[in-house]
Amino acid sequence: MDKPSAESVLQHNRRYIPGGISSVNRAIDPAITFLKAEGAYLWDTEGKRYIDYHAGFAPYFLGHNFKTVNMAAAAALNTGESLFGAGPSVSEGRLAELICENVPAVDKITLMNTGSEATSLAIRIGRAITGRQHIIVMQGGYNGNHDELATNVFNTPAEIGPRVSPGEYPLRPLGAGTTLTHNRFTHAVNYNDLESVRYVCRRYPVAALITEPLLQNIGVVKPKPGYLEGLRDLADEFGFLLVFDEVKTGFRHAVGGYSEISGVRPDLVVYGKAVANGFPLAVVGGKAEYMDSIIDPDPARRPFVAGTYNGHPVAVAAAIETVRYLVATKDSLYPRMEKMGAAMEAGILDIFARKGIKACVARQGSAFSFYLMEKPPADLHDIVEGHDFAKDVALRRALIQRGVFFVPIATKQCSLSAAHSDADVQFTLEQFESAVAEVW
Ligand SMILES: Cc1ncc(COP(=O)(O)O)c(C=O)c1O
Repeated sequence: MDKPSAESVLQHNRRYIPGGISSVNRAIDPAITFLKAEGAYLWDTEGKRYIDYHAGFAPYFLGHNFKTVNMAAAAALNTGESLFGAGPSVSEGRLAELICENVPAVDKITLMNTGSEATSLAIRIGRAITGRQHIIVMQGGYNGNHDELATNVFNTPAEIGPRVSPGEYPLRPLGAGTTLTHNRFTHAVNYNDLESVRYVCRRYPVAALITEPLLQNIGVVKPKPGYLEGLRDLADEFGFLLVFDEVKTGFRHAVGGYSEISGVRPDLVVYGKAVANGFPLAVVGGKAEYMDSIIDPDPARRPFVAGTYNGHPVAVAAAIETVRYLVATKDSLYPRMEKMGAAMEAGILDIFARKGIKACVARQGSAFSFYLMEKPPADLHDIVEGHDFAKDVALRRALIQRGVFFVPIATKQCSLSAAHSDADVQFTLEQFESAVAEVW
């Protein structure tokens, strides 16, 4: 069979799909079409192999097409289980038990398909519980594609203006066509800034604050010591629900995500991505008293939850096998990922230092980002003011030429998987050195 070129695939698709791609975030320059993925590797239409650090925006913590996860999904297709559309399923109960028994932050969960659906439900539960409307989001955080949350992720220096503290930022929706009513209720504050949360809480009745515990959609931006604890205290003081969006951090940094690592317990938590190693499944979970609002006998206090595909047997089977595997191997797996991440970090820093280039690496376990600036950022301002975006993208493109796939979008976080080997890291660092030499 003829292998199509990346350009011809794009041209074909553009006739039927605006832009040729079903998620705008997948548009990249140079155009590449991948045909196959296995473990830590991707292959494009020319048969060229890449070591993958994008991991499909991070779900593939165990690597692409992880055998036992795929087998579990395939088995679900062959057992006669189906989307019955009525009554509870045995498998959703098994997955829920597995997660609740192994994740400290959750007493009860419910299953959905995408992170966006799940964050939307978390907000709805927050409103139902508190009877309030206002929500707080982070400048520089991403929590999904729906109107209320798709705002204020990556703003240009002109848009973001000077640091606002204490205070809130003007809302900047990620695109056109969103309702404006949510502008009255969504408040964007700077990350790592407790005073701004307090500022909003003093002015508005806040139902929920949603944040990635560390921001991983503008690279890797970690909480300052005491920040997450401070959010917990403010939630208790002002009576809003603290929602951790662990779509990217859950199951990747620990089975119990970053809330387990930090020891800060949110009221609600959302998981996606790594929980099913690439199959479409998301989880909303948290304290039983809040989750049980879903079955409140009073319809006026009961948030609506429904979804034809919620608890789909194929994704659930994949998630059961993924979580089972992570729980069984966690004592060796997470330390190994930390070691590999540390080797990558040290190698990159060494290359930049030997070239005399101002740079740093921000990292949590297997997730890392390099920034061309003095020290890791504490918020989006640090990045837009200090980072060299053009050089960042040029370096990524030079790496892609060399068979190392860092998605060519400035600051995008890289993900190691359990399928990466020390030799892959070594090869990556050699190519990194050569790419740096080309770009500088
Ligand atoms: C932190 C975070 N929350 C929510 C989402 C939305 O998840 P999904 O794309 O599955 O709707 C994403 C997606 O990248 C994410 O990174």
